Amino acid sequence: MTQQTLILGMETSCDETSVSVIRNGQEILSNTVLSQIDSHKRFGGVVPEVASRHHVEGVTATIEEALDSANVTMHEIDAIAVTQGPGLIGALLIGINAAKALAFAYDKPIIPVHHIAGHIYANHLEQPLTFPLMALIVSGGHTELVYMKDHLNFEVIGETRDDAVGEAYDKVARTINLPYPGGPQIDQLATQGQDVYDFPRVWLEKDSYDFSFSGLKSAVINKLHNLRQKNEEIVEENVATSFQNSVVEVLSYKAIHACKSYDVKRLIVAGGVASNKGLRTSLKEACDNEGITLTIPSPSLCTDNAAMIGAAGHYLYQAGLRGDLALNGENNIDIEDFTMSK
Ligand code: KG4
Ligand code: ZN
Repeated sequence: MTQQTLILGMETSCDETSVSVIRNGQEILSNTVLSQIDSHKRFGGVVPEVASRHHVEGVTATIEEALDSANVTMHEIDAIAVTQGPGLIGALLIGINAAKALAFAYDKPIIPVHHIAGHIYANHLEQPLTFPLMALIVSGGHTELVYMKDHLNFEVIGETRDDAVGEAYDKVARTINLPYPGGPQIDQLATQGQDVYDFPRVWLEKDSYDFSFSGLKSAVINKLHNLRQKNEEIVEENVATSFQNSVVEVLSYKAIHACKSYDVKRLIVAGGVASNKGLRTSLKEACDNEGITLTIPSPSLCTDNAAMIGAAGHYLYQAGLRGDLALNGENNIDIEDFTMSK
């Protein structure tokens, strides 16, 4: 039998407790995800302390379930890859401490993984990454354009200057009384409305790959406020369509512009908002027109999961990155610090 590498991936940066077993960086043997969404719904967003408590309660069973469904034992695992950050610090620490306990008990190396590197490598689980590529990361915590000329070579060429796109979705959803997380619901409503509110497109300076969504969010809130004051009807579907059109137009234009400027023929999309139907359709059309190959993971690999951490962890392991038992969670770590090839 050929030599195989088995990575145990662990992700607890926000509101999913997830553990995976990944073979050779690409094959998912298991990917167990325990979602806390129902607990956070009643607060309208993720409550960090509640998230930490759920991770503590769920992490041991999730590890056992991931190993069981992969039909492997800890002895067969080569290394434990765990999200180091960014994320909620208390939540990160639960995964990191569980990983450290396993590393110590079974004498296995521990591999710290940047959460966004994980989101990028979610693509690799379905279609091998080819380079150079541009990655558009759109999640609840991040909006970034990352240029990669090789495996584990991350150059951030643009990022949000204020709200992340998923955060803007969730906040706008709340203003029209949709439950958390609002992104998928706005996406659904957007298919039924019309773009009548003409919300702004925030381009920033010419040729900037940065993003800004707080102005758009305020424009939506102000518009709703005005309509309510005038006792005019608010058509939720139209709010959703108008908001989504503004977001999608800016994201698509900047992603394609970045591909063209960097002479890249492959665009990958990652993060929870990559499930967005409007964004998928718009990017597909634009990429087809420009001869760019587009890949977007299946929705279950777009949102937080440990399979993506195991996949990125595999390459970091092969590149020789090792954490130690002093490993700490970090909210402000830079993905460029995880660059392992020049
Ligand atoms: O990547 P993710 O699971 O967690 C973070 O790392 O942040 O992303 C969660 C975010 C939430 O803001 C959620 O509303 C958004 O992704 N989201 C969507 C859709 N599905 C999830 N936003 C817009 N359209 C969707 N279909
Ligand atoms: Zn994420």
